[in-house]
Amino acid sequence: MQSSLPLVLSRDGTGPLHLQLAEQFRAAIRDGRLQAGHRLPSTRDLAKDLSVSRSVAQAAYDQLHAEGWIAGRTGSGTYVADVVPLQPVRRPRARPTRPADEELLTLRPGIPYVGPTSDAGWKRAWREVAAQPPARGYDHPAGLPELRAALVEHVGRVRGISCGPENVMITNGTMHGLHLLLTVRGRPGERFAVEDPGYLSAAITARQHGLEVVDIPVDEDGLVVSELDSDLAAVYVTPSHQYPLGGRLPVARRNELIRWARRTGATLIEDDYDSEFRYDVAPLPALAQLDLDRVVHLGTLSKLISPSLRLGWLVASAETVDRLSAYREEASDWPAWPIQVAFLAMLRDGYLDQVIRRSKRLYSERRNHTCAVLEPYGQIIGQDAGLHITLLLPPGADDLAIAAAARAAGVVVAPLSDYRRSISGPPGLVIGYATPTDENFHQALTILCEVLSRR
Ligand SMILES: Cc1ncc(COP(=O)(O)O)c(C=O)c1O
Repeated sequence: MQSSLPLVLSRDGTGPLHLQLAEQFRAAIRDGRLQAGHRLPSTRDLAKDLSVSRSVAQAAYDQLHAEGWIAGRTGSGTYVADVVPLQPVRRPRARPTRPADEELLTLRPGIPYVGPTSDAGWKRAWREVAAQPPARGYDHPAGLPELRAALVEHVGRVRGISCGPENVMITNGTMHGLHLLLTVRGRPGERFAVEDPGYLSAAITARQHGLEVVDIPVDEDGLVVSELDSDLAAVYVTPSHQYPLGGRLPVARRNELIRWARRTGATLIEDDYDSEFRYDVAPLPALAQLDLDRVVHLGTLSKLISPSLRLGWLVASAETVDRLSAYREEASDWPAWPIQVAFLAMLRDGYLDQVIRRSKRLYSERRNHTCAVLEPYGQIIGQDAGLHITLLLPPGADDLAIAAAARAAGVVVAPLSDYRRSISGPPGLVIGYATPTDENFHQALTILCEVLSRR
């Protein structure tokens, strides 16, 4: 008996013949060309028909039989099984209505400069990963012990935090650290304070954990501590460079914050996202340096090297790290071994310090240029640190409309309104100067100035 199907086999590398054959039968059964009970040709006839060896036909039938598309066996014939065809859901392709950010010049805040070629230090770190066999089993849930020890030295030297490896946990970045903390220590319904304007992802993460987000005002120095109620379970704060307004929490307010937390029992979550980049005086030591029993400190590589590495660290009391480790052991939720090994090499060989020094030089020049160019259009704040400045616009300006106009002209910039939740304040633009190449940076600023002059 001949196959009634127009079977075509290709020998041009499309894949093994028996798999091609099986797929053509599958497709025919799926779309109803072959109905349940239809008798298929014998492997001998099929092979002859297609000029292939019988083993090819047999292997195709074995595969279809194993998957349940056909039934019957040698002797009694092979039939199409009673499979009710299931039509795949066809989704209309979403058509991009506006160009993707990657196609535009970007002055979006928060992403560091990543050069087009890789450095010697970067390559050395990854060669070190490649030279070792992978770990023999699951790693320590708090992170590689050697890396935690190296981070003890790093946070001590760079952020003034005095701690031991028992206080350090390796994370997939700031938001992962917050998510872990809320998974283990958060209770639905608890009140969780976030700066307003502030880092939206922190508020979103807290809400996802069932917490009630409480908006706390911010002034030119940062979080207004006197606005904190005594029933808050935790406060998410960016003391070294308030995000996005850029204030640096002065010592008196830090002490007030710690005293408040000691009195109320609340946890202070310190997001230390870009403290390495300070252009006036040295950064103040981290808040965590004052009291590790009350502060959980979150550090990240996202602003230092690249957010795509998904690597960060959490520094907290040994008891908190132990509780998070116990959860992570069950959930197998920790960064992969290769990135931890590579980061260890980057710390040990001074590559991270080198990147920070080099980036600081570049960002400092770009910051000066950004401030000089944008000065006529409003008041610049938050320029002493980080990778962005905030341009406060004259009252009545519509920052959302200006950001939309900039986008239409080819430049992505963040409107300050996007960072506000319930507390109103002046309009503005949050302008990141780190990400683009030199050429794109200058071009983007020129376009932004044109857009601002039109208003
Ligand atoms: C205020 C703030 N904190 C932290 C981060 C980094 O988060 P992650 O380490 O999860 O990439 C960002 C990134 O945009 C940020 O803006």
